[in-house]
Amino acid sequence: METAFSIREADTGDAEAIQSVARKSWHAAYDDFLGADTVGAIIDEWYALESLRSSIRASEHHIFVATKDSPTREDSKLMGFVHGGPWADEPRIGHLMRLYVRPDSWGRGIGTSLLERAETALEGDGYERIRLEVFAENSDGVEFYEARGYDRADEECETLGGQTRRLLILETGLE
Ligand SMILES: CC(C)(COP(=O)(O)OP(=O)(O)OC[C@H]1O[C@@H](n2cnc3c(N)ncnc32)[C@H](O)[C@@H]1OP(=O)(O)O)[C@@H](O)C(=O)NCCC(=O)NCCS
Repeated sequence: METAFSIREADTGDAEAIQSVARKSWHAAYDDFLGADTVGAIIDEWYALESLRSSIRASEHHIFVATKDSPTREDSKLMGFVHGGPWADEPRIGHLMRLYVRPDSWGRGIGTSLLERAETALEGDGYERIRLEVFAENSDGVEFYEARGYDRADEECETLGGQTRRLLILETGLE
């Protein structure tokens, strides 16, 4: 189904809607292997509104949102977001930190458009490569990135809610 949407830089007034999209998308994509309670606790911590607002204000971070053109309800306006920034201690590497689309809007090109927008912004910052982490169990997410030129570079383990999960580290080069 075609959905008209626009992409723009986030402003601090988007923080609640970003948190809400993240919560819906995380539950839909990760409850099966993380469990709903762990997902809820991670969202509360990692998407705390004040921390989101401070990332939106930070000049070295880029957060873009996709909004529905001609929304019928205010709360259905924000369809997805992407967050990019620096990779700690590696000045030539940009970090694609987050990419989430509302589950009822998956498969309509929004994720691809958000990814391309973040890649352009990180390229403009002078980074030579982009690196990201994705749960190994998130096979749809891994396929999404691999189909868009990202290769497996490494892997690591992270403990979340008392469980150890495997993360794949994917990278792509920037021209
Ligand atoms: C991964 C994600 C960001 C992609 O966003 P999206 O808006 O669905 O992306 P697009 O529509 O541009 O492309 C979706 C891809 O999945 C396929 N797809 C089609 N219908 C789909 C559906 N109902 N659900 C999911 N994917 C679908 C598309 O064919 C496309 O693959 P291809 O072009 O490589 O063949 C989104 O699915 C999401 O939020 N997933 C959960 C979180 C996640 O995995 N984030 C990335 C890792 S951090």
